[in-house]
Amino acid sequence: MEDYFVPWIKGQKMYVSSHLELAWQDRSLHRMMSNENPNSPSEKVLEAIYQYGKMANRYPDRGVAVRKKLAEINGLEGPDNVLIGNGSCEVFDMIWRSFLRHEDEVIQHTPCFGIYKLRCNVLGGKLVSVPMTYTGSEFLFDPDGVIKAITPKTKIIVIANPNNPTGNFMDEADFIRIAETGVPFVIDEAYVEFSGLKKSMVKLTKKYKNVMITRTLSKAYGLAGLRFGYMLGDKEVVAQIAATLLPWNVGTIPMLAALAALEDTEGLKERVEFNNSQIEYIERELKDVPGLTVFHSHGNYILFDAKGAGKKGMDMVNYAREKGVIFRPQADMYGSDGFFRLTIGTKEENRMAVEIIKEFCSK
Ligand SMILES: Cc1ncc(COP(=O)(O)O)c(C=O)c1O
Repeated sequence: MEDYFVPWIKGQKMYVSSHLELAWQDRSLHRMMSNENPNSPSEKVLEAIYQYGKMANRYPDRGVAVRKKLAEINGLEGPDNVLIGNGSCEVFDMIWRSFLRHEDEVIQHTPCFGIYKLRCNVLGGKLVSVPMTYTGSEFLFDPDGVIKAITPKTKIIVIANPNNPTGNFMDEADFIRIAETGVPFVIDEAYVEFSGLKKSMVKLTKKYKNVMITRTLSKAYGLAGLRFGYMLGDKEVVAQIAATLLPWNVGTIPMLAALAALEDTEGLKERVEFNNSQIEYIERELKDVPGLTVFHSHGNYILFDAKGAGKKGMDMVNYAREKGVIFRPQADMYGSDGFFRLTIGTKEENRMAVEIIKEFCSK
């Protein structure tokens, strides 16, 4: 078999999210690691899941109703501006497969979400990482660095806004500068609803055909386990990428539960307000811990650097784990091994997290 595999997938391994495996094995653990929403779906969404569960013997359509709703919410012409996927990860996969050939380049702005790289690897693409600028107290986007990294082989530029894990937004003018290069430009807005759609760059898709916006219902809408993501863009671009769609890639239950969630504006508002009040609570409680840097976040996660407190991020993660809480380790970067990240949990979990971090930093 060895000789038959395409060379670029040889030696690559299946992606395993070890913290999710752990959390599903031991349900008593507090999940503060995967940027999930701690609140379960609203009654309206549960009703849709039940209602369409009864029709699970039927194949879905192409999601026309939910695509129409998404176009409407985002001020776009219609369903032809919207592509849906089994989570936004599948949408990245479709985009990457549409543009990348073996040895073509994808530019990402690090630190960032890991899946951009994984989808590039399975296509034999080359990932070009442009680091953000770290001032010691904040991470700054480097649009000049991104533009300078463009070569004739660049087929995709991807930037998350707000970025995971740093939690901050890039300026609109910088998005425009990158859009002007004409290179296919993916703006990952997985967390934008926490700040409201006014922060979205979706308007750029009307002027720049090369701009593609990706979103997910896994975060503010709280439906990570259902798997529903989407892309917004120019009609012709959407139609071309849609050629890579696996038939019936999004099931009836996820697409119609997603529609129910999009219609449940009150449900979204409650989740966003809860999240943002908890971000504020954690940042307020921890901002004065000596030596601990807290990076202000517009998402549902917060990045910390404990190096100034003489602590390692990995030790923090292990300490929390002993107390039954899963935090997220962050690879060493910018000469610091003090980084770690947490995801907003329930009120009780956030209180526990604050205690644990204070205790650990003062040990
Ligand atoms: C920046 C970013 N984009 C996309 C995703 C994945 O979303 P989905 O669940 O829709 O695949 C995540 C998940 O953590 C993320 O952090």
